[in-house]
Amino acid sequence: MVDLLLGLQWGDEGKGKIVDVLTKDYDIIARFQGGPNAGHTLEFDGIKHVLHTIPSGIFHENAVNIVGNGVVIDPVIFKKELDNLEKFNIDIISKLFISRKAHLILPTHRLLDAASEAAKGKAKIGSTLKGIGPTYMDKTGRNGMRVGDLEFKDWKKKYRALADKHEAMIGFYNVDIQYNLAELEIEFFEAVSTLKQLKFIDSEEYIFKAQDQGKKILAEGAQGSLLDIDFGTYPYVTSSNTTAAGACTGLGVAPNKIGRVLGIFKAYTTRVGSGPFPTELFDNDGETMGRVGNEFGATTGRPRRCGWLDLVALKYAVQINGVTELMMMKGDVLSGFKYLKVCTAYNYNGEEISHLPYNIEAKNVTPIYKEMKGWDKDLTKLTSESEFPEELNEYIAFLEKELNVPIKIVSVGPDRTQTIHR
Ligand code: GDP
Ligand code: IMO
Ligand code: MG
Repeated sequence: MVDLLLGLQWGDEGKGKIVDVLTKDYDIIARFQGGPNAGHTLEFDGIKHVLHTIPSGIFHENAVNIVGNGVVIDPVIFKKELDNLEKFNIDIISKLFISRKAHLILPTHRLLDAASEAAKGKAKIGSTLKGIGPTYMDKTGRNGMRVGDLEFKDWKKKYRALADKHEAMIGFYNVDIQYNLAELEIEFFEAVSTLKQLKFIDSEEYIFKAQDQGKKILAEGAQGSLLDIDFGTYPYVTSSNTTAAGACTGLGVAPNKIGRVLGIFKAYTTRVGSGPFPTELFDNDGETMGRVGNEFGATTGRPRRCGWLDLVALKYAVQINGVTELMMMKGDVLSGFKYLKVCTAYNYNGEEISHLPYNIEAKNVTPIYKEMKGWDKDLTKLTSESEFPEELNEYIAFLEKELNVPIKIVSVGPDRTQTIHR
């Protein structure tokens, strides 16, 4: 069986931290979609680590980490991640495997991302500029380069043809993008050499065998359900399926082999980049969440937009993914709020609705809130549920009732140890 861990909001829910906490119970941790647009943070022994492509199980001796076929890899960023890990003496060669079917992000994919965003002007997606959209476009357009191509002698020919085509495409955008491709290519080719030192595998086959042997596998999602290419707030989304089905296509896991679906959410909501966000706050409360929660993108450093918990959106994510248990993160950030608001329905063009409609732009949607009492107590030192303030218990009980799924983990700080199991 393969368990899934999925972000249920607009990303940055704390997936990296929880994967790290859970890895001791798994033999394999596998990423199945996204790429270096992800920034997964984990903290232990006073050190903070940010991973972009490498799965968050990498710090544990017991687990093998797989970058699956659904992932897009930028060798340049991947090499930097490896460099950052060097001082931790991890046996990367025997612990980190790459799917031959994963697609490669070329330097020109990054340039195309920048050109596309510049051409969109105010309507830009707010992409991380890592080349994600153009790389997945080449994948579905059947033009992409895959990790497995690097095993063939003539891979540079294929590279050249694709990069030349991209350069011509950049011209079509008619925007001012400055670049020196020759320099970018030196860096890229060097990084490809590093990537080639790793073990490339037919990851679906590896995972079939592991399942036969009764190995425990955890699929680590990137981004969140509301950034899903099909079910998110299109077009302000990423270019992959971030929801449960993405793990089937991104690893080769059959639907009937999926076990637990762990859904992770913040006790409030954040979003980085453009796009609608019904419960977004522009007042002191939003400012406090951002400041106390240190809400800055782990990949781009951009401030994250903050707002109250949106149960309409969360319920939608629970349904789409078939979430079997929930994990609530960053409850500690809400300590000190006199009251908390939870959005339980939308006023949608004058009508009260409790499902996520086609368009959730502010002009159509006004959130309807339930107000709840906040708690004063600092949660960051707590070690068990019995120490929870009454108001936090009420908050949790309300969410469980509304979502009809148990909250099994409450996270009260960024460190591995600040994790309370219920
Ligand atoms: P991911 O992309 O889902 O892995 O999440 P990010 O790493 O981008 O963002 C989550 C941020 O919140 C990171 O800085 C984490 O260290 C931090 N974090 C995770 N859980 C908690 C928590 O319970 N409380 C607080 N205060 N910070 C947390
Ligand atoms: P993790 O895995 C938060 C957002 C970008 C932008 C949109 C499209 O750390 O939760 P892209 O570069 O994918 O074309 O950007 O998606 N985005 C994320 N937001 N967390 C992420 O990943 C994200 N990955 C992409 O900000 O709005
Ligand atoms: Mg992140």
